[in-house]
Amino acid sequence: MFTNLKPQPADKILQLIQMYREDPRDTKIDLGVGVYKDATGNTPVMRAVKSAEQKIWEDQTSKAYTGLAGDPAFGDAMVSLVLGNAVDRDAVAAVATPGGTGAIRQALELIKMSNPDATVWISNPTWPNHPSIIKYLGMKMGEYRYFDSETRGVDFDGMIEDLSNIPAGDVVLLHGCCHNPTGANLTLAQWAEVIAVLQETNAIPFVDIAYQGFGDGLEEDAAAVRMIASEMPETIIAASCSKNFGIYRERTGVLMAVSQDKALRDLTQANLAFLNRQNYSFPPDHGARIVSTVMGDDALAAEWKAELEEVRLNMLALREQLASELQRLSGSDRFAFIGQHRGMFSRLGATPEQVEMLRKDHGIYMVGDSRLNIAGLNAETIPVLAKAIIDCGI
Ligand code: LMR
Repeated sequence: MFTNLKPQPADKILQLIQMYREDPRDTKIDLGVGVYKDATGNTPVMRAVKSAEQKIWEDQTSKAYTGLAGDPAFGDAMVSLVLGNAVDRDAVAAVATPGGTGAIRQALELIKMSNPDATVWISNPTWPNHPSIIKYLGMKMGEYRYFDSETRGVDFDGMIEDLSNIPAGDVVLLHGCCHNPTGANLTLAQWAEVIAVLQETNAIPFVDIAYQGFGDGLEEDAAAVRMIASEMPETIIAASCSKNFGIYRERTGVLMAVSQDKALRDLTQANLAFLNRQNYSFPPDHGARIVSTVMGDDALAAEWKAELEEVRLNMLALREQLASELQRLSGSDRFAFIGQHRGMFSRLGATPEQVEMLRKDHGIYMVGDSRLNIAGLNAETIPVLAKAIIDCGI
Protein backbone atom coordinates (compact mmCIF):
# COMPACT_ATOMS: atom_id res chain seq x y z
CA MET A 1 0.00 0.00 0.00
CA PHE A 2 2.67 2.49 0.94
CA THR A 3 4.15 2.18 -2.53
CA ASN A 4 1.10 4.06 -3.84
CA LEU A 5 2.01 7.14 -1.87
CA LYS A 6 3.37 10.12 -3.72
CA PRO A 7 5.91 12.60 -2.40
CA GLN A 8 4.19 15.69 -1.01
CA PRO A 9 5.32 19.24 -1.68
CA ALA A 10 7.39 20.60 1.19
CA ASP A 11 5.84 23.45 3.19
CA LYS A 12 7.95 26.45 2.19
CA ILE A 13 7.97 27.97 5.67
CA LEU A 14 8.87 24.75 7.49
CA GLN A 15 11.48 23.88 4.85
CA LEU A 16 13.31 27.10 5.69
CA ILE A 17 13.70 26.04 9.33
CA GLN A 18 15.61 22.96 8.16
CA MET A 19 17.81 24.92 5.75
CA TYR A 20 18.62 27.41 8.46
CA ARG A 21 19.57 24.66 10.92
CA GLU A 22 21.92 23.11 8.38
CA ASP A 23 23.71 26.40 7.60
CA PRO A 24 27.07 26.33 9.46
CA ARG A 25 27.62 30.13 9.36
CA ASP A 26 27.44 31.71 12.80
CA THR A 27 26.43 35.04 11.23
CA LYS A 28 23.19 33.54 9.82
CA ILE A 29 19.91 35.35 10.56
CA ASP A 30 16.55 33.56 10.74
CA LEU A 31 13.64 35.70 9.51
CA GLY A 32 11.54 32.72 8.44
CA VAL A 33 8.86 31.03 10.50
CA GLY A 34 6.44 33.26 12.41
CA VAL A 35 7.63 32.73 15.95
CA TYR A 36 8.30 35.66 18.28
CA LYS A 37 11.88 35.97 19.49
CA ASP A 38 13.31 38.38 22.04
CA ALA A 39 16.56 40.32 21.54
CA THR A 40 18.60 37.22 22.48
CA GLY A 41 16.85 35.08 19.89
CA ASN A 42 14.85 33.14 22.48
CA THR A 43 11.11 32.48 22.27
CA PRO A 44 10.26 32.99 25.93
CA VAL A 45 7.50 31.38 27.97
CA MET A 46 5.46 34.39 29.07
CA ARG A 47 5.48 35.12 32.80
CA ALA A 48 1.71 34.84 33.21
CA VAL A 49 1.78 31.54 31.32
CA LYS A 50 4.41 30.16 33.72
CA SER A 51 2.32 31.25 36.71
CA ALA A 52 -0.81 29.73 35.21
CA GLU A 53 0.99 26.44 34.59
CA GLN A 54 2.15 26.39 38.18
CA LYS A 55 -1.38 27.07 39.36
CA ILE A 56 -2.75 24.30 37.15
CA TRP A 57 -0.10 21.89 38.43
CA GLU A 58 -1.02 22.69 42.01
CA ASP A 59 -4.80 22.77 41.64
CA GLN A 60 -5.60 20.16 39.01
CA THR A 61 -6.93 16.94 40.50
CA SER A 62 -7.98 15.11 37.35
CA LYS A 63 -7.07 14.76 33.72
CA ALA A 64 -10.34 13.10 32.75
CA TYR A 65 -11.85 14.21 29.43
CA THR A 66 -13.36 17.67 29.22
CA GLY A 67 -16.10 17.89 26.54
CA LEU A 68 -16.04 17.66 22.77
CA ALA A 69 -16.08 21.44 22.58
CA GLY A 70 -13.26 21.67 25.15
CA ASP A 71 -13.51 23.30 28.54
CA PRO A 72 -16.39 25.85 28.49
CA ALA A 73 -14.28 28.35 30.46
CA PHE A 74 -11.82 28.43 27.55
CA GLY A 75 -14.60 28.97 25.00
CA ASP A 76 -15.99 31.83 27.09
CA ALA A 77 -12.55 33.40 27.58
CA MET A 78 -11.83 33.32 23.85
CA VAL A 79 -15.24 34.62 22.79
CA SER A 80 -14.71 37.50 25.15
CA LEU A 81 -11.10 38.12 24.06
CA VAL A 82 -11.88 38.10 20.35
CA LEU A 83 -15.44 39.42 20.23
CA GLY A 84 -15.68 41.54 23.38
CA ASN A 85 -19.28 42.69 23.70
CA ALA A 86 -19.83 42.92 19.96
CA VAL A 87 -22.34 40.07 19.92
CA ASP A 88 -24.35 38.11 22.48
CA ARG A 89 -22.48 35.14 23.92
CA ASP A 90 -25.62 33.14 23.03
CA ALA A 91 -25.05 33.88 19.38
CA VAL A 92 -21.67 32.16 19.29
CA ALA A 93 -20.95 28.47 18.80
CA ALA A 94 -17.37 27.76 19.90
CA VAL A 95 -15.11 24.72 20.06
CA ALA A 96 -11.52 24.35 21.16
CA THR A 97 -9.20 23.12 18.40
CA PRO A 98 -5.56 22.09 18.12
CA GLY A 99 -4.14 25.52 17.29
CA GLY A 100 -5.41 28.08 14.81
CA THR A 101 -4.70 25.62 12.01
CA GLY A 102 -7.05 23.11 13.65
CA ALA A 103 -9.71 25.82 13.73
CA ILE A 104 -9.18 26.58 10.04
CA ARG A 105 -9.41 22.92 9.15
CA GLN A 106 -12.61 22.43 11.18
CA ALA A 107 -14.11 25.60 9.70
CA LEU A 108 -13.47 24.37 6.18
CA GLU A 109 -14.98 21.01 7.01
CA LEU A 110 -18.05 22.74 8.44
CA ILE A 111 -18.40 24.81 5.27
CA LYS A 112 -18.04 21.67 3.16
CA MET A 113 -20.68 19.83 5.21
CA SER A 114 -23.09 22.69 4.81
CA ASN A 115 -22.37 23.57 1.18
CA PRO A 116 -19.98 21.29 -0.74
CA ASP A 117 -20.22 23.61 -3.74
CA ALA A 118 -19.08 26.72 -1.92
CA THR A 119 -15.93 28.35 -3.24
CA VAL A 120 -13.53 29.65 -0.60
CA TRP A 121 -11.98 32.94 -1.68
CA ILE A 122 -8.53 33.70 -0.33
CA SER A 123 -6.47 36.87 -0.48
CA ASN A 124 -3.65 37.00 -3.00
CA PRO A 125 -1.29 36.36 -1.33
CA THR A 126 -2.19 34.51 1.85
CA TRP A 127 -0.66 32.14 4.38
CA PRO A 128 0.37 29.11 2.23
CA ASN A 129 -1.42 26.64 4.50
CA HIS A 130 -4.80 28.20 3.60
CA PRO A 131 -4.79 27.06 -0.05
CA SER A 132 -3.03 23.86 0.92
CA ILE A 133 -5.83 22.71 3.27
CA ILE A 134 -8.59 23.93 0.94
CA LYS A 135 -7.10 21.90 -1.92
CA TYR A 136 -6.52 18.90 0.32
CA LEU A 137 -10.21 18.92 1.25
CA GLY A 138 -11.12 19.02 -2.45
CA MET A 139 -12.93 22.33 -2.10
CA LYS A 140 -13.28 25.01 -4.72
CA MET A 141 -11.00 27.98 -4.30
CA GLY A 142 -10.70 31.46 -5.77
CA GLU A 143 -8.48 34.47 -5.12
CA TYR A 144 -9.25 38.13 -4.57
CA ARG A 145 -6.67 40.84 -5.10
CA TYR A 146 -5.09 42.10 -1.90
CA PHE A 147 -1.50 43.30 -2.16
CA ASP A 148 -0.18 46.08 -4.35
CA SER A 149 3.42 45.16 -5.04
CA GLU A 150 4.23 48.72 -6.14
CA THR A 151 3.14 50.48 -2.95
CA ARG A 152 3.48 47.39 -0.70
CA GLY A 153 0.08 48.42 0.66
CA VAL A 154 -3.37 46.95 0.13
CA ASP A 155 -4.77 47.05 -3.41
CA PHE A 156 -8.08 48.16 -1.97
CA ASP A 157 -9.83 48.99 -5.25
CA GLY A 158 -8.84 45.61 -6.66
CA MET A 159 -9.98 43.87 -3.49
CA ILE A 160 -13.39 45.56 -3.50
CA GLU A 161 -13.89 44.88 -7.19
CA ASP A 162 -13.11 41.18 -6.73
CA LEU A 163 -15.22 40.83 -3.57
CA SER A 164 -18.17 42.45 -5.38
CA ASN A 165 -18.18 39.61 -7.89
CA ILE A 166 -18.29 36.77 -5.36
CA PRO A 167 -21.58 34.85 -5.50
CA ALA A 168 -23.95 34.49 -2.53
CA GLY A 169 -23.12 31.55 -0.25
CA ASP A 170 -19.41 31.52 -1.13
CA VAL A 171 -16.94 32.08 1.66
CA VAL A 172 -14.40 34.91 1.92
CA LEU A 173 -11.36 34.16 4.04
CA LEU A 174 -10.09 37.38 5.62
CA HIS A 175 -7.15 38.06 7.94
CA GLY A 176 -8.59 39.77 11.04
CA CYS A 177 -5.37 41.74 11.62
CA CYS A 178 -1.63 41.60 10.88
CA HIS A 179 -2.00 40.13 7.39
CA ASN A 180 0.26 37.15 6.82
CA PRO A 181 2.45 37.28 4.70
CA THR A 182 2.33 40.96 3.71
CA GLY A 183 1.92 43.00 6.92
CA ALA A 184 -0.38 45.35 4.93
CA ASN A 185 -3.76 45.90 6.58
CA LEU A 186 -7.09 47.61 6.01
CA THR A 187 -8.17 50.70 7.92
CA LEU A 188 -11.44 50.50 9.85
CA ALA A 189 -13.13 52.65 7.21
CA GLN A 190 -12.00 50.14 4.58
CA TRP A 191 -13.32 47.25 6.69
CA ALA A 192 -16.69 48.99 6.75
CA GLU A 193 -16.64 49.04 2.94
CA VAL A 194 -15.75 45.35 2.84
CA ILE A 195 -18.70 44.59 5.12
CA ALA A 196 -21.03 46.61 2.90
CA VAL A 197 -19.91 44.55 -0.10
CA LEU A 198 -20.38 41.26 1.77
CA GLN A 199 -23.86 42.36 2.81
CA GLU A 200 -24.63 43.17 -0.78
CA THR A 201 -23.38 39.85 -2.18
CA ASN A 202 -24.38 37.62 0.75
CA ALA A 203 -20.99 35.96 0.79
CA ILE A 204 -19.97 34.57 4.19
CA PRO A 205 -16.97 36.02 6.04
CA PHE A 206 -14.46 33.59 7.51
CA VAL A 207 -11.94 35.50 9.62
CA ASP A 208 -8.56 34.04 10.53
CA ILE A 209 -7.14 35.94 13.51
CA ALA A 210 -3.79 34.55 14.61
CA TYR A 211 -1.95 37.70 15.73
CA GLN A 212 -4.36 39.60 17.97
CA GLY A 213 -2.24 41.93 20.12
CA PHE A 214 0.72 41.99 17.70
CA GLY A 215 -0.49 44.89 15.56
CA ASP A 216 -2.04 47.99 17.13
CA GLY A 217 -3.12 46.46 20.47
CA LEU A 218 -5.41 43.69 21.76
CA GLU A 219 -8.64 45.66 21.38
CA GLU A 220 -7.62 47.52 18.22
CA ASP A 221 -6.65 44.29 16.46
CA ALA A 222 -10.07 42.79 17.21
CA ALA A 223 -12.02 45.81 15.96
CA ALA A 224 -12.51 44.47 12.43
CA VAL A 225 -13.66 40.98 13.43
CA ARG A 226 -16.05 42.53 15.98
CA MET A 227 -17.52 44.80 13.36
CA ILE A 228 -17.95 41.90 10.93
CA ALA A 229 -19.53 39.58 13.53
CA SER A 230 -21.98 42.22 14.68
CA GLU A 231 -23.03 43.28 11.20
CA MET A 232 -23.15 40.05 9.21
CA PRO A 233 -25.83 37.37 9.63
CA GLU A 234 -23.19 34.63 9.87
CA THR A 235 -19.47 34.82 10.59
CA ILE A 236 -16.88 32.08 11.01
CA ILE A 237 -13.79 32.89 13.07
CA ALA A 238 -10.61 30.86 13.57
CA ALA A 239 -8.46 32.26 16.40
CA SER A 240 -5.05 31.13 17.55
CA CYS A 241 -3.41 31.48 20.97
CA SER A 242 0.00 30.39 19.67
CA LYS A 243 1.40 33.87 19.22
CA ASN A 244 -0.31 36.14 21.73
CA PHE A 245 0.11 33.64 24.56
CA GLY A 246 3.40 32.30 23.15
CA ILE A 247 2.14 28.72 23.54
CA TYR A 248 2.95 27.56 20.02
CA ARG A 249 3.59 23.89 20.77
CA GLU A 250 0.58 23.51 23.05
CA ARG A 251 -1.67 23.78 19.96
CA THR A 252 -4.36 26.07 21.29
CA GLY A 253 -7.03 27.59 19.13
CA VAL A 254 -10.74 28.12 18.87
CA LEU A 255 -13.31 28.00 16.11
CA MET A 256 -16.28 30.30 16.53
CA ALA A 257 -19.40 30.48 14.42
CA VAL A 258 -21.62 33.49 14.99
CA SER A 259 -25.25 33.40 13.91
CA GLN A 260 -28.00 35.78 14.87
CA ASP A 261 -30.43 32.98 15.67
CA LYS A 262 -30.31 30.80 18.81
CA ALA A 263 -31.61 27.65 17.09
CA LEU A 264 -29.01 27.99 14.33
CA ARG A 265 -26.33 28.56 16.90
CA ASP A 266 -27.28 25.31 18.68
CA LEU A 267 -27.29 23.38 15.43
CA THR A 268 -23.85 24.77 14.54
CA GLN A 269 -22.50 23.99 18.00
CA ALA A 270 -23.66 20.37 17.69
CA ASN A 271 -22.06 20.07 14.24
CA LEU A 272 -18.77 21.49 15.50
CA ALA A 273 -18.76 19.02 18.40
CA PHE A 274 -19.47 16.22 15.90
CA LEU A 275 -16.57 17.36 13.73
CA ASN A 276 -14.21 17.39 16.71
CA ARG A 277 -15.31 13.84 17.55
CA GLN A 278 -14.63 12.64 14.01
CA ASN A 279 -11.24 14.24 13.71
CA TYR A 280 -9.61 13.89 17.12
CA SER A 281 -12.39 13.45 19.65
CA PHE A 282 -11.55 15.78 22.53
CA PRO A 283 -9.41 18.81 21.76
CA PRO A 284 -6.14 19.30 23.70
CA ASP A 285 -6.67 20.93 27.08
CA HIS A 286 -3.38 22.11 28.56
CA GLY A 287 -2.93 25.26 26.46
CA ALA A 288 -6.65 26.03 26.67
CA ARG A 289 -6.47 25.76 30.44
CA ILE A 290 -3.49 28.11 30.54
CA VAL A 291 -5.52 30.67 28.61
CA SER A 292 -8.63 30.35 30.77
CA THR A 293 -6.50 30.45 33.94
CA VAL A 294 -4.77 33.65 32.80
CA MET A 295 -7.98 35.27 31.63
CA GLY A 296 -9.90 34.20 34.72
CA ASP A 297 -7.50 35.89 37.15
CA ASP A 298 -7.33 39.69 37.08
CA ALA A 299 -3.69 39.89 38.19
CA LEU A 300 -2.51 37.26 35.70
CA ALA A 301 -4.58 38.80 32.91
CA ALA A 302 -3.02 42.21 33.62
CA GLU A 303 0.49 40.71 33.65
CA TRP A 304 -0.16 38.90 30.37
CA LYS A 305 -1.50 42.02 28.71
CA ALA A 306 1.52 44.02 29.86
CA GLU A 307 3.96 41.44 28.51
CA LEU A 308 2.08 41.14 25.23
CA GLU A 309 2.25 44.92 24.92
CA GLU A 310 6.05 44.77 25.48
CA VAL A 311 6.27 42.21 22.69
CA ARG A 312 4.18 44.38 20.37
CA LEU A 313 6.19 47.51 21.11
CA ASN A 314 9.47 45.62 20.59
CA MET A 315 8.36 44.60 17.13
CA LEU A 316 7.21 48.10 16.35
CA ALA A 317 10.58 49.51 17.42
CA LEU A 318 12.38 46.96 15.24
CA ARG A 319 10.21 48.00 12.28
CA GLU A 320 11.04 51.64 12.81
CA GLN A 321 14.78 50.97 13.19
CA LEU A 322 14.86 48.88 10.03
CA ALA A 323 12.88 51.45 8.06
CA SER A 324 15.14 54.28 9.18
CA GLU A 325 18.36 52.32 8.53
CA LEU A 326 17.09 51.55 5.03
CA GLN A 327 16.16 55.15 4.50
CA ARG A 328 19.69 56.18 5.50
CA LEU A 329 21.38 53.62 3.24
CA SER A 330 19.10 54.05 0.23
CA GLY A 331 18.72 57.79 0.57
CA SER A 332 15.03 57.33 -0.21
CA ASP A 333 11.67 56.63 1.42
CA ARG A 334 11.02 53.54 -0.60
CA PHE A 335 11.17 51.30 2.48
CA ALA A 336 8.84 53.44 4.60
CA PHE A 337 6.18 50.74 4.21
CA ILE A 338 8.07 48.62 6.76
CA GLY A 339 7.19 51.16 9.45
CA GLN A 340 3.58 51.25 8.30
CA HIS A 341 3.01 47.50 8.16
CA ARG A 342 1.73 45.80 11.30
CA GLY A 343 2.21 42.44 12.96
CA MET A 344 5.06 40.06 12.72
CA PHE A 345 5.64 40.17 8.99
CA SER A 346 6.46 42.50 6.14
CA ARG A 347 6.68 41.56 2.52
CA LEU A 348 9.76 43.24 1.19
CA GLY A 349 8.87 42.98 -2.49
CA ALA A 350 12.15 41.29 -3.50
CA THR A 351 12.37 38.80 -6.38
CA PRO A 352 12.92 35.10 -5.62
CA GLU A 353 16.47 35.53 -6.98
CA GLN A 354 17.15 38.35 -4.55
CA VAL A 355 15.74 36.28 -1.68
CA GLU A 356 18.09 33.49 -2.67
CA MET A 357 21.01 35.90 -2.86
CA LEU A 358 20.22 37.09 0.66
CA ARG A 359 20.34 33.49 1.84
CA LYS A 360 23.40 32.35 -0.12
CA ASP A 361 25.61 35.44 0.12
CA HIS A 362 24.49 36.85 3.47
CA GLY A 363 23.04 33.90 5.45
CA ILE A 364 19.71 35.76 5.77
CA TYR A 365 16.71 33.45 5.69
CA MET A 366 13.25 34.68 4.71
CA VAL A 367 10.33 33.04 2.92
CA GLY A 368 10.70 32.94 -0.91
CA ASP A 369 8.01 35.59 -1.45
CA SER A 370 10.29 37.94 0.57
CA ARG A 371 8.22 37.79 3.75
CA LEU A 372 10.41 38.60 6.70
CA ASN A 373 9.72 37.95 10.35
CA ILE A 374 10.42 41.29 12.03
CA ALA A 375 10.73 39.57 15.43
CA GLY A 376 13.75 37.64 14.13
CA LEU A 377 15.75 40.91 14.15
CA ASN A 378 17.64 42.74 16.88
CA ALA A 379 19.72 45.92 17.16
CA GLU A 380 22.82 44.10 15.87
CA THR A 381 21.23 42.36 12.90
CA ILE A 382 19.19 45.32 11.61
CA PRO A 383 22.21 47.11 10.04
CA VAL A 384 23.41 43.78 8.59
CA LEU A 385 20.03 43.11 6.99
CA ALA A 386 19.65 46.68 5.74
CA LYS A 387 23.08 46.60 4.09
CA ALA A 388 22.38 43.20 2.53
CA ILE A 389 19.05 44.45 1.15
CA ILE A 390 20.82 47.35 -0.56
CA ASP A 391 23.72 45.14 -1.74
CA CYS A 392 21.25 42.74 -3.35
CA GLY A 393 19.70 45.63 -5.27
CA ILE A 394 16.27 45.36 -3.63
C1 LMR B 1 3.98 31.35 9.88
O1 LMR B 1 3.26 31.81 8.99
O2 LMR B 1 5.22 31.39 9.82
C2 LMR B 1 3.34 30.77 11.10
O3 LMR B 1 1.96 30.86 11.04
C3 LMR B 1 3.82 29.40 11.39
C4 LMR B 1 3.33 28.37 10.43
O4 LMR B 1 2.83 27.36 10.89
O5 LMR B 1 3.46 28.57 9.21
